[in-house]
Amino acid sequence: MILIKRASDLHKHIASGRKQAGNVGFVPTMGALHEGHLSLIEASQKENGLTVCSIFVNPTQFNDPKDYEKYPVTMDKDIALLEEQGVDILFYPYVEEIYPNGLKDLGHYDLGYLETILEGKYRPGHFQGVCQVVHRLLEIVQPNNLYMGQKDYQQCMVVKRLLELTGLPIELHTCPTLREPDGLAMSSRNMRLHPEERQRAVEISRTLAAIGKEVIPGDLVKLSLWAEQELSRKGFKVDYVAIASALDLRLVDNWDGKEPLVTLAAAFLNEVRLIDNMLVPLRNE
Ligand code: PAF
Repeated sequence: MILIKRASDLHKHIASGRKQAGNVGFVPTMGALHEGHLSLIEASQKENGLTVCSIFVNPTQFNDPKDYEKYPVTMDKDIALLEEQGVDILFYPYVEEIYPNGLKDLGHYDLGYLETILEGKYRPGHFQGVCQVVHRLLEIVQPNNLYMGQKDYQQCMVVKRLLELTGLPIELHTCPTLREPDGLAMSSRNMRLHPEERQRAVEISRTLAAIGKEVIPGDLVKLSLWAEQELSRKGFKVDYVAIASALDLRLVDNWDGKEPLVTLAAAFLNEVRLIDNMLVPLRNE
């Protein structure tokens, strides 16, 4: 694996590698890697001759400075995992490589409705930060294929919108969420949970799965309120539990029984904010 810190060096390596490799696949990360990230890398390796992974904890996407400070950094372990996985290039830039003109006056992206709901509502500015870094990384790497996890469902929609806005000829692949044996969605933030919190964290995925089983056509408001109360009762500080269209994330209060649905939740266990989502399987009646 080649380790690169400078955008100009990465550019050169990819330009020469691309001739031989054909397609380039890209997996952007903020490090603290787990099996979920490795599954994105595997997907890229199957479909591309060259796989580039980046590790960059992007300051502009943290609306809470404490969250940024406490974001887990496990660089040596990450490098070992990526080596073992056979990644071709790891790009782990300095902040100045990504934002050469500083952190002020960065681009603004018209994300419309997506920025006003769920993560957009509870983490103001977060998705602008995601777009700023992903846009810059895509310009540097110029991949054919981009791999991101369904765990960040809304982020995937935002990046799809970013690709539309910028016209970059890149295909976004949204890969399934990997879960721990008890159902907890894999996440770098899980590392920050104390053992007792880790045990309780699984309640988020259990609650989302319960909604998926209970949902029937008609009013859905009661069901999401019930789910919020369940999580609060179990000691979470809930930002939201929502049932939305899987196609465009429009919140669905009254379901026609046909529209594909996704359930989403965000809740704190003490200091750690966890998110998860599940597609609701359609039943043939
Ligand atoms: O999902 C993440 O880890 C980050 O939001 C991303 C896409 C790497 C941008 O910093």
